Amino acid sequence: MKRCAGLAVFVIVVTAVVLVAAEVRQPDWAYGYLKPLGPNDPVAPPCPISVRPFPDCAYASGPALEDAIKLELPGAAAKFTRSEAYFDYGPADWYPGDHPPMPEIVAKGNRSVGIRACALCHFPNGQGKTENGGVAGLPAAYILGQLRDFKSGVRRSADPRKANTNEMAQIARLLTEEEAKGAAAYFASMKWRPWVKVMEADEVPPVRRTTNGLLLPVAGLPVPLGDRIIEVPENPEWTEVMRDPRSGFIAYVPVGSVAKGESLAANGQGRTTQCAVCHGPGLKGTAAIPGIAGRTASYLMRQLWDFNQGTRKNQAMAPVVAKLSLDDMTCLAAYVASLAP
Ligand code: HEC
Ligand code: HEC
Repeated sequence: MKRCAGLAVFVIVVTAVVLVAAEVRQPDWAYGYLKPLGPNDPVAPPCPISVRPFPDCAYASGPALEDAIKLELPGAAAKFTRSEAYFDYGPADWYPGDHPPMPEIVAKGNRSVGIRACALCHFPNGQGKTENGGVAGLPAAYILGQLRDFKSGVRRSADPRKANTNEMAQIARLLTEEEAKGAAAYFASMKWRPWVKVMEADEVPPVRRTTNGLLLPVAGLPVPLGDRIIEVPENPEWTEVMRDPRSGFIAYVPVGSVAKGESLAANGQGRTTQCAVCHGPGLKGTAAIPGIAGRTASYLMRQLWDFNQGTRKNQAMAPVVAKLSLDDMTCLAAYVASLAP
């Protein structure tokens, strides 16, 4: 009898240890996933470098439904079908008056090489969707530096499932010097516009993920937010179906996280350096350092986590994130996203 009780305690303890070990704390939500990478889950396939035109590395989406329908957006002169809106080598430009003329590589990419248009993922105005990132208003030299880092492998995603970051790296490898300079000057010439509303919440709508990690609200009872940030389009249909470059995002963040992030950013609390020392007043950026104010929370979190995990290497940022916890970074992402750009 005694032996059995001892065995039962042993089994319970071992199970508890295994359960704790299995619960890896990482911000899956920032990478567009709702659960951690399991031992048998697939990771992104490698990008073949020698094939021309090179195949897309991001996950392929299914065929568009009801493609005969011409879609409309308020104030846009032209109408586009779903496939036209997403055409790899010349996606819909809904509001041509919102931006200067696009260089060819931004508007159409380079079909013979297999480089899809920058505007497909980052939008013609550079604001971009959460699973990609915003490029408007970044210093041109910084953009060129990032393209070099993607190319050399100094910048890659900490989440091995994130195939679209691999495609970004592949694009950086294949761009000509001319194309890179043209795209950098173009995106740097525009201002970053307000793009995300930060709302503190205990509960959020349930969400699903699209193939490449955009989170979309679905019908159902609210779910607890916990210690995550869940960021969804303000108008899911406009963002997901039409790639509306004027319609931004809502980031639901844990209650109290904005104030905690603000105090960390402002005085470091012995765990980090004041962000404004380098990112400038209001974190709006300087001539050489990127502005981070008002960028999407999931993008900001991916970068902090990637720097922390060392898959994105940078001498200035490495010490900034070295001692931060997952919760510290979540609070910083919530606070920085809430700032006016
Ligand atoms: C298939 C989608 C896709 C296309 C096409 C694409 N990008 Fe990207 N881009 C991404 C993703 C994904 C990221 C990285 C997001 C991350 O790190 O989490 C990114 C990041 C970037 C960044 C870094 C932004 C920052 O704040 O550091 C730059 C610069 C950039 N892209 C430039 C370009 C240029 C220039 C082109 C066109 C030549 C282009 N991208 C085409 C998906 C794309
Ligand atoms: C010592 C200077 C320095 C400090 C302090 C600093 N940063 Fe940075 N940060 C940089 C530099 C330089 C880059 C560009 C890195 C690169 O080229 O890859 C950067 C990049 C970033 C990026 C990625 C931007 C993008 O577009 O991808 C984020 C997010 C960021 N910093 C957040 C913070 C936060 C939050 C703080 C405060 C807790 C902070 N930084 C403090 C220098 C600094």
